[in-house]
Amino acid sequence: MSTPPRHDLLEAALARRGELDIGATDAMRLVDGEGDDLPGIYLDDFAGHWLLSTPEPAVAADLRDWLASRALPVYWKILDPRGKRSPAHLAGPVVTGPVEVREHGVRYRVRFDSGYSQGLFLDQRDNRRRVRERCGPGDTVLNTFAYTGSFSVVAALAGATTTTLDLSQPALDWGRDHFRLNQVDPDTQHFVKGDTFHWLQRFARQGRTFSGIVLDPPTFSRHSGGKVFRAESDYGRLVELATGCLADPGWILCTTNCRGISRSAFQKVVRGGFRDRPVRLRSHPMPPDFPGDPYLKTVLAST
Ligand SMILES: C[S@@+](CC[C@H](N)C(=O)[O-])C[C@H]1O[C@@H](n2cnc3c(N)ncnc32)[C@H](O)[C@@H]1O
Repeated sequence: MSTPPRHDLLEAALARRGELDIGATDAMRLVDGEGDDLPGIYLDDFAGHWLLSTPEPAVAADLRDWLASRALPVYWKILDPRGKRSPAHLAGPVVTGPVEVREHGVRYRVRFDSGYSQGLFLDQRDNRRRVRERCGPGDTVLNTFAYTGSFSVVAALAGATTTTLDLSQPALDWGRDHFRLNQVDPDTQHFVKGDTFHWLQRFARQGRTFSGIVLDPPTFSRHSGGKVFRAESDYGRLVELATGCLADPGWILCTTNCRGISRSAFQKVVRGGFRDRPVRLRSHPMPPDFPGDPYLKTVLAST
């Protein structure tokens, strides 16, 4: 059987996304590589502003023509963890400032000029919904490796008081902006600029506990004292540190996009981090607009 022309595969991927029922959301993955029979092509929609990501340092003419025919702003990013450059303009109007998107009615600002990441990770959409569903008034949520605070915003909208922790001040400022955008006064929430590993131990020493903790570390990170964190070997230790400031009952949302850890191994690692403490674990799949490589592993652990 002959392969359908790429144009047909791209249109088919879009048609499948049109059938998904993701309420009040205008940010999603439109094309997910192998999952849409389009290896090496990843296309994200941010409220009518498209971001193409490819591992190849070139865009084939037929793909470029198809993208240009949509008359939308299209940017292009090369998936190179070493280069980590901002997306480049590829077709359509140039985007000059932040783009506002909605996810289940929650508003975020993404930027195409902010470096390698645009401010919102679309593959975490279902995990943000899970956090929102778990939270209520009186809850306290610690969002570690928080980046632009998207998990904190949904927790606060559900009534929780949040602590947003990240090494990067620009990321925390972006997070404050996300609160304001959703009519939550950031001054009613806590922000900590610092190292997750240091602060988890400090909170534990202070006897400060949280009813929910979000752990979404990068695969590799350097932290206080020049120490190195590698998700593949150190995730269990991270969970163990987090349990030191987890209330009872409490939950920890553990996620990793580390390709070197399988889903079942990740579940074991999370369980190990709880040591002898009884815990219920639930693994969750990636959102339905990500039918390709299931790189993102999620375990929700609750006591
Ligand atoms: C993959 S992003 C996290 C994404 C975020 N959970 C979200 O859903 O938007 C990684 C973030 O971790 C932060 N980071 C890296 N190492 C850190 C550390 N040791 N302590 C605190 N933050 C760290 C980076 O500044 C960056 O904002």
